[in-house]
Order: sequence, then structure tokens, then C-alpha cells
Amino acid sequence: TGGKSTNIVWHDCPIGKPQREKLIQQKGCVIWITGLSGSGKSTLACALSQGLHSRRKLTYVLDGDNIRHGLNSDLSFESKDRAENIRRIGEVASLFADAGIICIASLISPFRKDRDACRALLAEGDFIEVFLDVPLKVCEARDPKGLYKLSRAGKIQGFTGIDDPYEEPLNCEILLQYKEGICSSPNEMAEEVISYLEERGYLQ
Ligand code: PPS
Repeated sequence: TGGKSTNIVWHDCPIGKPQREKLIQQKGCVIWITGLSGSGKSTLACALSQGLHSRRKLTYVLDGDNIRHGLNSDLSFESKDRAENIRRIGEVASLFADAGIICIASLISPFRKDRDACRALLAEGDFIEVFLDVPLKVCEARDPKGLYKLSRAGKIQGFTGIDDPYEEPLNCEILLQYKEGICSSPNEMAEEVISYLEERGYLQ
């Protein structure tokens, strides 16, 4: 893409991803957790980070809500700004993966096209999309920040799932589906993701 930058030339360095990975004995990748507000993305991200940390793997969590306090504090929830939020987090996540780190991105990321653009930044297999599929009515009943209530009362406009779209992934690597009456704990879900990584040689 390149945007508005012109007359720029890519400069390669002899120390690249393979050299860094060899040094720290792990493989960099991006675990992208998408889902509605209140689906448990941040909780899963932390459980996953803890599970991997205890296996001596270096992780870093990029949480939408947190990144909006700094790097993305200039962005609103209008679709153009959400797309930019996703784009920036995707770029940062790909840098972390390039550093050899297991980067866990947790943000609503409601648009398929934007998630796919982030996927395209990484090598085949290095972008692992996790769909935390929790029905709207469950998220709304949890309402941990009281935002669904405000949205229903018309005090917030453009809330995802209420009056703003959420496009479900069509081909995610891992589907974590909420099931009525069966309560998977964040740790159990994290273990599912960790098994996926193990099976594909990301944790040797
Ligand atoms: S996005 O869509 O990917 O840009 O969103 P993200 O950066 O993950 O931020 C989502 C959190 O912001 C709060 N919030 C809203 N969410 C959705 N729609 C609107 N209009 C909105 N306004 C504020 C909300 O707390 C989200 O937190 P999570 O952690 O997803 O529950």
C-alpha cells in the first residue's frame, strides 16, 4: 500500500525473523481473537497469555480497549476509524510476530475485509483467527461495562451488534462456540488454542 509515503525504499537486515526465533527458541505468530463486546475476548487473551507464559513462551497482548488509550486514542467507533483501528493493530501485531513473539490481538474487529487484510500481512499459517462466538443475548445479559444498556437506551450510537454490524468469520482457524448450559472456562478455551499451536509446531 504505502499510502502517502513516497520515495521510500525497503531496507533489509541480516538479522531477521528466523535468527530471532532461533535465539529465543519459539515461533512468532498472531492469534487474532474476534467477537462481540462482552464475549470474553480480553479474558481469553489473558488466560492464553498466562498459559503460554507458564510454558516459557514470550507473548504480548494487544487489546483493542487498551490500545485505544494510547496509539489509537484518536480513533472513534465510526466504521472508517474501526477499520483504521484494526489496520494499525494488525500492523503492530505483525511486527511482534516478526520479532518472534506470540502476539495475541483481542478486539471486536467487526469487518471481515479488515481482518483479512491483517491476515495478509503474515506468512501462511502465522495468522490464527479465533472466533469467540457468543450470542448477542448472552453478551447483552453479561453487559460488564453497562454499554449495551446505554446503547438500548439510545445513549450510545453505533454499538456493535445493536445498531452497528458484526461480520462473523467464515473460515476461522479456531471456533470457540458458546453452548447453553455448558460453561467452558477461559482456561479451558485457552488450552484449546494452546493445543492448536502445539499440533502445528508453534510451541517446540
Ligand atoms: S473495534 O470495533 O475493533 O474497533 O473495537 P475495539 O477496539 O475492540 O473496542 C471495543 C471496546 O470499546 C467499547 N466501546 C464500543 N464497542 C463497540 N461499539 C461501540 N460503539 C463502542 N463504544 C465503546 C467497548 O467497551 C468494547 O469493549 P469489549 O472489550 O469489546 O467489550
